[in-house]
Amino acid sequence: MLGARTQGGWRALRRCASLPRAVRLRVREALGAREAADAVRVQGWVRSVRSQKEVLFLHINDGSSLEHLQVVANPSLENRVLTFGSAVEVQGKLVKSPHRKQNMELQAETIRVVGPCDIWSFPLKMKERHPLEYVRQFPHLRCRNNTLGSLLRIRSEATAAIHSFFQDNGYVHIHTPIITSNDCEGAGELFQIEASSEVRESAEKTHFFNVPAFLTVSGQLHLEVMAGAFTHVFTFGPTFRAENSQSRRHLAEFYMVEAELSFTESLQDIMQVMEDLFKTVTSTVLSRCPHDVELFHKYVAPAQKTKDRLEQILKNKFVTISYSEAVEILKQASQTFTFKPEWGCDLQTEHEKYLVKHCGEIPVFVINYPYDLKPFYMRDNEDGPQHTVAAVDLLVPGIGELCGGSLREERLPFLESRLQRLGLTDAYQWYLDLRKFGSVPHGGFGMGFERYLQYILGVDNIKDVIPFPRFSHSCLL
Ligand code: 4AD
Repeated sequence: MLGARTQGGWRALRRCASLPRAVRLRVREALGAREAADAVRVQGWVRSVRSQKEVLFLHINDGSSLEHLQVVANPSLENRVLTFGSAVEVQGKLVKSPHRKQNMELQAETIRVVGPCDIWSFPLKMKERHPLEYVRQFPHLRCRNNTLGSLLRIRSEATAAIHSFFQDNGYVHIHTPIITSNDCEGAGELFQIEASSEVRESAEKTHFFNVPAFLTVSGQLHLEVMAGAFTHVFTFGPTFRAENSQSRRHLAEFYMVEAELSFTESLQDIMQVMEDLFKTVTSTVLSRCPHDVELFHKYVAPAQKTKDRLEQILKNKFVTISYSEAVEILKQASQTFTFKPEWGCDLQTEHEKYLVKHCGEIPVFVINYPYDLKPFYMRDNEDGPQHTVAAVDLLVPGIGELCGGSLREERLPFLESRLQRLGLTDAYQWYLDLRKFGSVPHGGFGMGFERYLQYILGVDNIKDVIPFPRFSHSCLL
């Protein structure tokens, strides 16, 4: 409103009053318009101001597209608060642009500064391509930068594409709990939650829910419950792991897509869903946000040739190797690893990287992991002497593990004896019930959404694919 009190602002408001109410268009709609239109209103934030003797050029953006809308105005409409970063409402005529690179432009009749912006203290600067590390310091402002704008539009399209993929294939979406008493993965990477001391009813009451409660590490076990009624189910929500890792691939809060399929006896069926999900969502994102994706491939990770690699990957089938084959490949490698590859030991990031490189820098399924390495719910392959479970990890270049899944142990005696050995029988009575009442062969998987985005866009640090980096120094968002 401050802008309206300036000379230019008052003049604009006076003119505005006499104009007919114009049709409000988003920048994307204005840019894509087929025909000129007389009375159009566009709102957004100024991305550049260029004043010439005869003409004033503005570029405005409202987050609906990477491309800005060019506004052409009489220099008399310029005013002190019409600066880079300010919020404006422009009314005028939408006309074909004489410039080859843009379809339409807006000939302004009024420009109202809705919210001014102090360019001296605003951390983003006009026409500068700020590095991702720089904008990470301003989590509350970085979404106004082109790269983060593109990322967040891609995130939104990918989210919708994931939901469509499952809905189109007959899956029921389930909201699995965020606060839970189970530790699905059994890896102990849990955030425990309690009420603050003011809310606590008495000093004797140790837990708010009477039992220890945690932020979910996976919705899998809840999905297994639902797969026992709806056959095919999925969830896509926030997941929390108390991994005190500063790595480029780990977050304490991330989004996981999980699916569970009943009446499924083969691990290959689960792998096929993983591959179809990856390919369908990626093709949708490439076709719906080509310019946003291009920005990453051209400016953020140009050396990685991500675009060409993705196109190849979408055309070809993913490769499958067994864990035992993977260990043999690693043992024969000319490279020396920090962690010596041995059957029975976890594959480390360095091993995963080597394996995808060995297979030609394409996604690789590794199946049938050692029984002792994996959680209790995975199906026993009853093999030997090297005892394995029907587990699968999908490894991708530059990232490592993108998806993890398995057939689930549906046989009551197998599950009972495993839980007994782990001392978990009492805690998992409800899970054993699922095997007593209409148990069927089933399986499922989880895919890390941020790692997926990192991979398709070629982003090095996982913190650059989330809307808000956690607890930055300058802003405790
Ligand atoms: O392999 P994970 O631990 O599998 C599960 O949680 C299963 N219960 C899922 C299921 O079968 N329904 O995690 C699945 C994926 C990983 O492959 C990885 O992509 C991602 O979740 N992930 C993380 N992403 C970011 N930061 C972290 N700390 C992550 N931990 C796992």
